[in-house]
Amino acid sequence: MHSLTGAYELVQKKINWNTATIGIIGLGYVGLPLAIQIANKNFKVIGFEKDKNKLKAIENEVCYVQDVNAEHFFTTIRSKYFFATDDFNLLQITDIIIICVPTPTDKEGNPDLTYVLEAITAIAAHASKNCLVILESTTYPGTTQEVLLPILENANFKVGESCFIAFSPERIDPGNPKYKTVNTPRIVGGVTQKCTKLAISFYKQVIESEVYSVSSPAVAEMEKLLENTFRNVNIALVNELTKLCHKLNINIWEVIEAAATKPYGYMAFYPGPGVGGHCIPIDPKYLEWKAKQVSVDVPLIHCANEINKRMPQYIVDRLNHYLQDGQQGLHPPHITVIGLAYKKNIDDYRESPALSILKDFNNLHYHWSVVDPNILTFNFSDQTFDTVPLTEQLISSSDCILILANHDNIDYQMIDMHAKCIFDTRNTDYPFKNARYYRL
Ligand SMILES: NC(=O)c1ccc[n+]([C@@H]2O[C@H](COP(=O)([O-])OP(=O)(O)OC[C@H]3O[C@@H](n4cnc5c(N)ncnc54)[C@H](O)[C@@H]3O)[C@@H](O)[C@H]2O)c1
Repeated sequence: MHSLTGAYELVQKKINWNTATIGIIGLGYVGLPLAIQIANKNFKVIGFEKDKNKLKAIENEVCYVQDVNAEHFFTTIRSKYFFATDDFNLLQITDIIIICVPTPTDKEGNPDLTYVLEAITAIAAHASKNCLVILESTTYPGTTQEVLLPILENANFKVGESCFIAFSPERIDPGNPKYKTVNTPRIVGGVTQKCTKLAISFYKQVIESEVYSVSSPAVAEMEKLLENTFRNVNIALVNELTKLCHKLNINIWEVIEAAATKPYGYMAFYPGPGVGGHCIPIDPKYLEWKAKQVSVDVPLIHCANEINKRMPQYIVDRLNHYLQDGQQGLHPPHITVIGLAYKKNIDDYRESPALSILKDFNNLHYHWSVVDPNILTFNFSDQTFDTVPLTEQLISSSDCILILANHDNIDYQMIDMHAKCIFDTRNTDYPFKNARYYRL
C-alpha cells in the first residue's frame, strides 16, 4: 500500500523511467495511432477494444486505419510493447489509462455518452486505485468533472490524491500529410494541479510537440469544441457564399484564393457537398446541447449546422440542372460518384455527405455507382455495397460524374477523356477540358 503522496510520485517515476503500462480504451482512428506512438516511445501499451473484428485484424496483422504508417504498425504489433485485448481485467496492471471511444449523438441529436460510460465503468471496476485516467474523446464541457469524476469517487478512487484525472482532446486531422499524433500540440486540463502535472509529464514523454496546460478539464473540453465549431461555421459561410456566387456568376474558388492573399485576419475555408466524419457534424451539436442546458441561445452554431446539412440537397439540385442541360432522355440517369469518403485521401465515410446524396438518388430512382479506391465496401440503407473500379466503360456509360472527394489516386485524365459531363464539388486540381465540366 502506497502513501497518498507516494501514488503521485510512483506514477511520475514510472513515466520518467518508461516503466508505466499504458491502457488505451478504443483502438479506432484515434486510439490506434496513439497506441502505436506510445509503444514507439518504449512504453508497454495494452489496447482494450471490444470490436472483435479489430482484434482479429491486429492478430492477422491487417492495418485497418489508413493514417497509420503500415511499417510502424507491423513493427509495433510484433514488438513486446503492444498487446490488444477485450479482457478488461487487465486494466488492473495499467498505470495510465486513456479513453478514445466514440462520442456520437443519439437520434434526437443529443450527446450519447454510452461508450464513455462503459469505459469509465470498466476502469472503476478493474483499474488499480493508483492511476492516471485521461479522457481524449471529444465531449461537452463538464463531462470529465461531472460525469467521470463521481463514478471513480463512488468506487473509492481518491481523485487528486492517489488517482488522477485529466482531459486532453485528440486533435488529429486524418489525411493530413504533415500533422500526425506525434507532432500536433497537446492541450491538457486536469481536475487538480497534480492531475494536470502528471498528464503533462506523460505527454511530454510521448509527443514531440508543445504540451500546453489549461486550468481545468472544462477549458480543454471547450477548447476542442471551439476548434471544430470554428471549422463548421467557416465551412457554412463559404457554402452559403457559394450559392450566392453561383447565382451571380462569380467563381467562389477564385474569390477565396484572392481573399487568401491577405496575410492577416483571414483563413481560407473551401465549399463542398457538406461536412462529414465523426467530428465536424457532431461536435457543434454537443456544444449546442450544453448551451441549451444553461439556457443560452447559440443561433450561429445552430445555423451553421443547418447550412452544411442542406448542402447535399443543393448538390443534387445543381446536378439535376446539368442533366437537363445535357438533354438527358426519359430513362433514369446513371451517376458515377467519385469519392465516398467525407474528404480527400481518407477512407472514413462516417456521416459523409455522399450518403445523403445517394439517398436522394434512390428517391429519384437514379442509377448510381461509387468509385473510391480507399473503400472496398460500404454500408448504406441497411445494405452492404461494393465500390466499383474506375474504368473507361463505367465513365463513358454514365450520364454524369459527380466528384465528391477528389482523392489523389484517381485517374482524372481518363475521366476527362471519356465523361459526358462532370460536376466537380471540390475544384479538383486537374485541367478538365474534354467533358462538359461544371464546378461547384
Ligand atoms: N476520427 C477523428 O478524426 C477524430 C479526431 C479527433 C477526435 N476524435 C474523437 O475521438 C473519439 C474517438 O473517435 P474515433 O474516430 O477514433 O472513433 P472510432 O469509432 O474509430 O474508434 C473508437 C473505438 O472504440 C471502440 N470502443 C467503443 N466502446 C468501447 C469500450 N467500452 N471498450 C473498448 N473499446 C470500445 C470501438 O469499437 C472503436 O473501435 C471521438 O470522441 C471523436 O470525436 C476523432
